[in-house]
Amino acid sequence: MAKVKSIFYCQNCGNSSPKWMGKCNSCGEWNSYVEEKTSGKKQKSSTDFLEKAEIVKLDDVKVTDFPRFSTASQEFDRVVGGGIVPGSVILIGGEPGIGKSTLLLQISLRFDREILYISGEESATQIKLRADRITDKSSNCSIYSETNLQSILQKCRETKPALVIIDSIQTIVSEHIESYAGSISQVRECAGEIIHFAKTTATPVILIGHINKEGSIAGPKVLEHMVDTVLQFEGDRNHVYRILRSSKNRFGSAQELGIFEMVSGGLKEVKNPNEVLINKERSHLSGVCIGASIEGNHPFLIEIQALVSSAVYGTPQRSSTGFDLRRLNMLLAVLEKRCGFKLGAKDVFLNIAGGLKIDDPAMDLAVVCSVLSSSEDIPLDTEMVLAAEIGLSGELRPVTQLQKRIEEAEKLGFNCILVSKHALKGIDVASHKIEIKAFHSVVEVFEDLFG
Ligand code: TYD
Ligand code: MG
Repeated sequence: MAKVKSIFYCQNCGNSSPKWMGKCNSCGEWNSYVEEKTSGKKQKSSTDFLEKAEIVKLDDVKVTDFPRFSTASQEFDRVVGGGIVPGSVILIGGEPGIGKSTLLLQISLRFDREILYISGEESATQIKLRADRITDKSSNCSIYSETNLQSILQKCRETKPALVIIDSIQTIVSEHIESYAGSISQVRECAGEIIHFAKTTATPVILIGHINKEGSIAGPKVLEHMVDTVLQFEGDRNHVYRILRSSKNRFGSAQELGIFEMVSGGLKEVKNPNEVLINKERSHLSGVCIGASIEGNHPFLIEIQALVSSAVYGTPQRSSTGFDLRRLNMLLAVLEKRCGFKLGAKDVFLNIAGGLKIDDPAMDLAVVCSVLSSSEDIPLDTEMVLAAEIGLSGELRPVTQLQKRIEEAEKLGFNCILVSKHALKGIDVASHKIEIKAFHSVVEVFEDLFG
């Protein structure tokens, strides 16, 4: 009988300790240590198969181009770097209910080769019901509702599918480990064995992993360094748009991003996000303006709405959806100090349209202008786009990839873009149809727009 050992793992960061600890030394989380029992016998690790490798001169290594294969989803292919690389392991993380199962089931249904969808969460009937909601049909997808890792890997070896999908890694249990499903050591062990399977058989595997807002469950965080590609599926469950973003990719750019829309028939790819995100029928309302932001490598024009009103209570409210509240407070302080606006006694509400979250500093000017427009109750020109960061002294600072932002605004038919004077180096103003207006500071912009 192998000896059973007890190890305590931090469920937040995966740090281990032979003793229970109140506070994790590694991540500082309180009360996150949980006892997990392991049998003392040696466990296979995902890197075992590498041990037999020989030392070779780098010059002698032959470069073979990865024959990637494409899924029927163009957005998904682009995010993973142009198709799935054989033997690669992709982890898709996201909050429960965001649509991970839907996305992968949809890929399975459209895939033109044999695919094995392993579900530890739903029965075959439930998956069939979901598949019926999605209109795509295919006979290449097989379902296996199982949580035992050894049975799963055996079935994979027998049936030799072209792609394996595991939904989700938190429900899979390996016989080699005694702790419960979803615990750090179980998740790590299962992922290790799956990676070993993927690398030795050149079968690509997609793993689904749940995370919650606090990231406190034994989540995909510990797996991120083990897998080849990490994708995040994010969005607001109450809105229809979902963003698939790559945060690590050994076989492509980690800057890619794809946008989907959740409709009654599953997830629909959004090919031209800007035309969907911006309301074309904008009436001349105050407090609304368009900022040119960059997400990954893609320019997005985003509508920002602000409402400024007299505070009813003693302490004015500041509320922001989709934009960092601390940044909003800083921008309001700059307006107060540098431009002389008395916003201290006003409630300020800010909203980014479409349920998106933006942390591009280039949105600063758009935020400030929508606040000023609402405060002064003067609507802004609906054909104008803004792209500049604001410094603490109220100066406009240059932003990255301005050329792309200008081109996107031009493509979508806007007449004018407001930028920082320092950003014009290397930009041929005369060659653009769109008018490029450059300013030094917020005060200058204010005089131009409202003066
Ligand atoms: P799901 O894929 O189960 O989420 P996850 O696997 O990330 O937990 O997504 C569930 C949500 O998607 C659910 O709230 C309903 C919605 N949905 C649609 O709006 N349309 C559809 O066609 C499907 C299948 C799901
Ligand atoms: Mg699911």
